[in-house]
Amino acid sequence: MIQLSNVTAKYPGGEGIELVSLTVEPGEFVYLVGPSGAGKSSVLKVIYRDIIPQSGHVVVGGFNSLTFKKKQIPYLRRKLGIIFQDFKLLMDRNVFENVAFTLRVTHTRGVEIKRKVLRVLADVGLSHKRLKMPYQLSGGEQQRVAIARALVNEPIVLLADEPTGNLDPEAAEEIMQLIEKINSKGTAILMATHDFRLVRAQRRKVIKIEKGMTRS
Ligand SMILES: Nc1ncnc2c1ncn2[C@@H]1O[C@H](COP(=O)(O)OP(=O)(O)OP(=O)(O)O)[C@@H](O)[C@H]1O
Ligand SMILES: [Mg+2]
Repeated sequence: MIQLSNVTAKYPGGEGIELVSLTVEPGEFVYLVGPSGAGKSSVLKVIYRDIIPQSGHVVVGGFNSLTFKKKQIPYLRRKLGIIFQDFKLLMDRNVFENVAFTLRVTHTRGVEIKRKVLRVLADVGLSHKRLKMPYQLSGGEQQRVAIARALVNEPIVLLADEPTGNLDPEAAEEIMQLIEKINSKGTAILMATHDFRLVRAQRRKVIKIEKGMTRS
């Protein structure tokens, strides 16, 4: 479903990732761990095509880096759910509209939007806050909104880049439990973290990255 084979992607300064290989299978929970600056976010960026690999081979949900065209980016990203440490919500729109945003862009019918948004908001436990603005929510609640937005298109995988990095331990634990629930319902997870304490390795795949390289 996701496969990186010997992928190298360097920034102009020469940093980046080198010969990275990994796979994510349907339904799998995969941790990408390594120290700050190791290249975890860069691996995720290659997967959602924020950076272009210079060599190697990337396959994501049927899209292939060797034949990939720039105009395919929106179609690729619609197959992916992506969440970040800093939530990245639209601060001038309420919770409902933050989650509805991608559906409006793709001209989904109004009734469909309502049905889908209310369903994912219920899944993350935020139905009652649907008319609040992001600044009226706690950090943990804002991350739940971001998760709802990521899930509304039923992605093949949830890419999570340090999703608990800005949260206190209690809110972080709740978000981890939510991500685990999402995985148990069948969505694959690829989660980057430098915090080994978050890794519950039982029945999980753990990929280590150091100085831009995966090691096996
Ligand atoms: N836009 C950029 N331009 C130039 N260099 C960059 C850029 N983004 C990241 N880098 C460099 O690439 C390397 C890998 O960065 P990356 O953000 O992937 O690490 P990370 O493992 O996600 O770290 P952290 O745990 O701090 O988030 C680092 O040396 C970083 O300085
Ligand atoms: Mg990072």
